[in-house]
Amino acid sequence: MAPTIALKALTLFSYIFALVVRGVRTIAGREKILEDHSWRKPSSADRRSPCPLLNALANHGYLPRDGKDVSLARLITGLQDSINLAPDATLIVGLAGISASTTGKRFTLHLDDLAKHGVIEHDGSLSRHDVHDPPPADNKTFAPEVWATTAAYLSQNESISIETAARARRARIAAAKEAHPAFAMSKKDLRSSALETSAYLRVFGEGTRGRARWEQVKVLFEEERLPFEEGFKRSEKMITVSDLLVLSGALDAVPQEGTASN
Ligand code: HEM
Repeated sequence: MAPTIALKALTLFSYIFALVVRGVRTIAGREKILEDHSWRKPSSADRRSPCPLLNALANHGYLPRDGKDVSLARLITGLQDSINLAPDATLIVGLAGISASTTGKRFTLHLDDLAKHGVIEHDGSLSRHDVHDPPPADNKTFAPEVWATTAAYLSQNESISIETAARARRARIAAAKEAHPAFAMSKKDLRSSALETSAYLRVFGEGTRGRARWEQVKVLFEEERLPFEEGFKRSEKMITVSDLLVLSGALDAVPQEGTASN
């Protein structure tokens, strides 16, 4: 099957799947049970991932608060309800994540399964250590000393331009490369890392123009909380795979040299 046909089939499947899941939940009265979205700090038994957004969603109850046995269905509806991410976008990343699952079930994962290096998790993260860093090398938990390099760029202005986000990401990758000889990022890792930067720009910014609110991005990373108090609003327009690709193309197009501007 040609890749575009496969992608279209996946997109169609994901939208129908999301509708069916929601319908079944509503009939079973489950939608009501899932309504408490207040932020709660995770307990030490709760599982968390290297992804600040998924962790925030678990802290708000858009995903299971214990981070265990998260189904693809729950990922799709959780990301739709919280940030209006298109079902196919979640499905593409979610299916990759499932391949690291240790739940013993076919379509669920524990959030910390996502820390398995080389599946989605990669070197050169914006806020986490790399697996090669000196022990205890924790590639899953927010690390203020790593984030400091990224934040030095992102905090320069109230809103983060595409140029600034690109330079922050490049600076972090350069610092990680410098830090240990085992550093490695494949083309796939670089693509994933650019999409992660695109994702926060899209969720907290203005469409595909960048301009993410620094205050909101800071809260996501540092507190793993959705910044409702800081003015975050769920995007009215669905966040699509194409939005993320447009942003990641724009990030790649930022020239290597020059100074950050907002
Ligand atoms: C629009 C939705 C999403 C946003 C805004 C988002 C945001 C981010 C950001 C900003 C990072 C980089 C963290 C860092 O480098 O320190 C990240 C990493 C990650 N995300 Fe997400 N994410 C989203 C959806 C997902 C989904 C659906 C999955 C999987 C089911 C996922 C899995 C991961 C993983 C495994 C990483 C670790 C990559 C690494 O730094 O090594 N994310 N995410």
